[in-house]
Amino acid sequence: MPNAIILGTGSCVPDKVLPNTHFERVGSNDAWIQERLGIKERRVVDGQTTSDIATGAALKAIEAAGISAEDIDLIVLATATPDRPAPATACAVQEKIGANNAVAFDISAVCSGALFALSTGCQYIASGMFRTVMVIGADTFSNITDWDRRDSVFFGDGAGAILLTATEEDRGFLQFELHSDGAGKDGFTVPAGGCEIPTTAETMAQGLHNFQMDGKAVFETAVSVVPPTIESVLAKCELTVDDIQCMLPHQPSIRILQEIARRVNLPWEKVRTNMDRYANTSGGTIPIVLDETWRSESFHAGDHILFAAVGAGWTWGAALYKC
Ligand SMILES: CC(C)(COP(=O)(O)OP(=O)(O)OC[C@H]1O[C@@H](n2cnc3c(N)ncnc32)[C@H](O)[C@@H]1OP(=O)(O)O)[C@@H](O)C(=O)NCCC(=O)NCCS
Repeated sequence: MPNAIILGTGSCVPDKVLPNTHFERVGSNDAWIQERLGIKERRVVDGQTTSDIATGAALKAIEAAGISAEDIDLIVLATATPDRPAPATACAVQEKIGANNAVAFDISAVCSGALFALSTGCQYIASGMFRTVMVIGADTFSNITDWDRRDSVFFGDGAGAILLTATEEDRGFLQFELHSDGAGKDGFTVPAGGCEIPTTAETMAQGLHNFQMDGKAVFETAVSVVPPTIESVLAKCELTVDDIQCMLPHQPSIRILQEIARRVNLPWEKVRTNMDRYANTSGGTIPIVLDETWRSESFHAGDHILFAAVGAGWTWGAALYKC
């Protein structure tokens, strides 16, 4: 079966910066946010949609890969903040970038979305059904945030894109392990706007279209489920953390990442972060941090990159990429 290798990456964040001082109005402060979450500032859209920033990221990935949009067979886009409930935001991106030959659909796995979308793209390549696949993670959580609450500090808006293609060589995405546990569905949720609680003037007035989060449950779930999944992926590849050049994780909070790294004995220097500048960009995070790392670091044949994510659902997983 063919493996999926990275052909090019791109990312796009909005221009508008919200520093931590913005949240003094809701009783938060810069010191608390930096110490607990590792966030200094985040970006928020100012009139742009999720597909707009996804398009910005996709065009950069196409440029980096040196291909034409018409070469793309499939666009898989992970988002929890789609432009519309229907159709898929991936279709809006397909039109905007002119990927006229691509199949396009969305994936819903919130903060694990990019990892789940990556695995989907890789399976289509492995099966031989598609050869050139664009995986996008894009979210604008500023649209589902109650800005009068203290938990408005957690998220920022952003998008990243990864172009994959097939190779017969022993490299690329070699292993994925994904999990879900619907018993955790209330740990992080947007309660209204679906068919369970349809949109009414009352649900709007009650703020039920904004996210609700049990921060402690997120923390405890993340640090208990992600480490064994990382260990399992490494074991399946007959590797240890010593064989890993770097880990590109989803970025919920610095303390969660430090605890995950500690539990799997991964030196902190190997963990790449961008939450200081962008906060948690949900589906956007892993493709953005991959784009930054891919462009700024030199990787050699045989280097290993570890991916890990956890999000609402609960959903979580890990993956291994061999350069
Ligand atoms: C949210 C989180 C930081 C809370 O940490 P904690 O140590 O359990 O914090 P607590 O709820 O006990 O509150 C600790 C203190 O911080 C304060 N606090 C909570 N939220 C705050 C905020 N946004 N700004 C400032 N202070 C805050 C509390 O009032 C409390 O103050 P006190 O000690 O004077 O009573 C932690 O659980 C976490 O990181 N969760 C993960 C959330 C996440 O990553 N979400 C995004 C992905 S879905």
